[in-house]
Amino acid sequence: MAHDPKLPTHAHGADATLNTSENDAFWSILERRLSRRGLLRGGAVATAAAALPLGLVGCGDPEGPTGLDTEPLAPADTATPTAPADTVAPQPEPAAPALGFAAVPKGLQDYVRVPAGYTALVLTALGDPIDAGTKPYANDGSDGEFAKRIGDHGDALAYFPIPRGSQSATDGLLVQNHEALTDIYLHPAGPTNSPIDDKTATGPRPLAEVVKEQEAHGVSALRIRKSLAGKWAVDRTFPGNTRWHVNTEMVLSGPAAGSTQMVTKLSPDARTCFGTLNNCGNGVTPWGTYLSGEENWGTYFTRGDDAAADAARDKKLARYGIAAKNVDPVAKTAPGNYRGWDRAEGGSDLQKRFDCTLTASSAEGDFRNEPNHFGYVVEIDPYCPGVPAKKRTALGRMAHEGSWFGPVVPGKPLVVYMGDDSRNEYVYKFVSAALWNADDAAAGMAAGDKYLDAGTLYVAKFHADGSGEWLRLSKDNSALSAFEDLADIVINVRAAADAAGATKMDRPEWGGVNPKTGEFYVTLTNNSLRGTTGPAVDAANPRSYEDLKGTTSQKGNVNGHILRLCETGNEGAATTLRWDVYLFGAESSADPALVNVSGLTAENDFSSPDGLWFDRRGVLWIQTDDGAYTDVTNCMMLAALPGHVGDGGEVIVGAQRTFAGKKATPESVKRFLVGVPGSEITGVDMTPDLKTMFVNIQHPGETGTLEKFQSNWPSMTSDDAAVTGAPTNRPRTATIVITRADGREIGA
Ligand code: FEO
Ligand code: CA
Ligand code: CA
Repeated sequence: MAHDPKLPTHAHGADATLNTSENDAFWSILERRLSRRGLLRGGAVATAAAALPLGLVGCGDPEGPTGLDTEPLAPADTATPTAPADTVAPQPEPAAPALGFAAVPKGLQDYVRVPAGYTALVLTALGDPIDAGTKPYANDGSDGEFAKRIGDHGDALAYFPIPRGSQSATDGLLVQNHEALTDIYLHPAGPTNSPIDDKTATGPRPLAEVVKEQEAHGVSALRIRKSLAGKWAVDRTFPGNTRWHVNTEMVLSGPAAGSTQMVTKLSPDARTCFGTLNNCGNGVTPWGTYLSGEENWGTYFTRGDDAAADAARDKKLARYGIAAKNVDPVAKTAPGNYRGWDRAEGGSDLQKRFDCTLTASSAEGDFRNEPNHFGYVVEIDPYCPGVPAKKRTALGRMAHEGSWFGPVVPGKPLVVYMGDDSRNEYVYKFVSAALWNADDAAAGMAAGDKYLDAGTLYVAKFHADGSGEWLRLSKDNSALSAFEDLADIVINVRAAADAAGATKMDRPEWGGVNPKTGEFYVTLTNNSLRGTTGPAVDAANPRSYEDLKGTTSQKGNVNGHILRLCETGNEGAATTLRWDVYLFGAESSADPALVNVSGLTAENDFSSPDGLWFDRRGVLWIQTDDGAYTDVTNCMMLAALPGHVGDGGEVIVGAQRTFAGKKATPESVKRFLVGVPGSEITGVDMTPDLKTMFVNIQHPGETGTLEKFQSNWPSMTSDDAAVTGAPTNRPRTATIVITRADGREIGA
């Protein structure tokens, strides 16, 4: 989700701006100690992990519960860099295939457009059953049983070959996140008493609606197969097709597990939790599991006026967008994603927990700490769905976009890069304590326990001279002396990063590691506050300008940019780096001295980069979630051939000195796909042979109404269908499959 909150959105609420810090120590030591003592007084905390009450099948036997092979996984996208870049003297550019397709023109059509010679077909869509026993999706709001259907808002996705460790390009598991909802299409006449569509709504919500909404979030894994005729389809008979959703029990792992700040009525030992929420970007581990990022979870909660009861807790919650009196129907301040789940008529604690007001005498009696159970990287083993998902708390609690591994080198620590997607938030990396042993590529979740539960979390500071440093977020950083322990740091990592002095960024979205250079790229999608009412421009966030959308003025960093960094000595664990801005989003006609700094043309101009993925050839795929250029074009995906940090040079943007990559050309950055009205393009992966690509078209028609749909897609999937399609169909988020008529590699 990357819309600027000023832009209309039904579905996924605002990316709150919660970082008003001066990057000084955030809370007084006194406040914190009082709070801690208060929690401890409230009741004993279990110190031993209880047996997991999950009732699920494990994956210990060789065949696994799904009958899948569990051979070692060969990591496909995490190869050791073949041409390490130098942080001082740039290396020759690595070889990459020419982008052998004609650029797709911008436009507002209601069908997905790909280059000539390519085909885009719908594989799965919102509500499709995942098993053979569930009724086909009626798409009129009447459908229930979402625990057995594909969720809404398919976001990041990944293809896992079957069997595990193979290079199968015809049989695999398609795993995808279900970030949020376009609520009006999920119910017959839209949601009842939901603040998402009517901020003045206060009445009880029908339990069935709430359960449907909870189950339509999360993650899905489905077996897909390619027929001899070349057509992909879901295998609904496969028993391993699985949904994880808001009410699925999971395990808390890493430093925050067992913390007093994690105790709730449903988790007295603070070691289990329920569900995953607002799943956005992803990652694939070198051991072949799936990492799902919990993004804008904060505003799903309501909270009464309990600020005075615990000032330290109040400050902590506010930093994550959960202010006291979070919902004031009269003032219409219901936050972005609040759907009134706590008000479900006849609901259980699974619904009530979304009200985190202090009501009991201790944390075991209420849900004051429930917000601390969300905002993590969640590890799922799609090959072993009976193994409980684990929240890897060592990677910090934030609006996680995704998690991207640096080069995987035997004998070296693993490095995971991450972004916190809100305006003025930060870029992070985690360095594992354990050194990589390739034998662990077969270890499944046990490898996650080894590499993702212990290590060091860092946050990035970008200096004006093109250098940068990783600031340590641990008790041995003296700037973090106010924090109780590592659990306190990871649970409240935004405040820890404030205290450390990190650089406020223009909304860090997806990242990716160039397999040819090992350099990390991150999209900074836009920031309406940059240089306006928020932070001034700086070298790493150098633009603030006005752009017109029709006659509407848009200000700040309207179109976003992509920053990249190179670790000193190409060591993932390095604490210093060099950076530059690889690419600036812009309209091609915009001022080249202030806005169109990368020299974009009609073939490749774009706005609000969000999704980002390197394929193993080093081709960079850039996806947009835009609201600024949508008067001219729907959101899009581009292919690019990036070089390396330092391949451009110093530039002055407005009055701000910065470092820009080599200018784009129509050959080095090219538009590959244009989506439909209201949609964001997000999630991309390919089969190992690079001949099939999977992409999500998320929330088509999201600003429409039941009276007037903004889009009818996917009933319209081609030029012909645009003429003959069914304009009465409610639009549905869908995964498309892209192939070439000549059967060759995508993009080459
Ligand atoms: Fe869910 Fe930051 O996009
Ligand atoms: Ca996104
Ligand atoms: Ca414009």
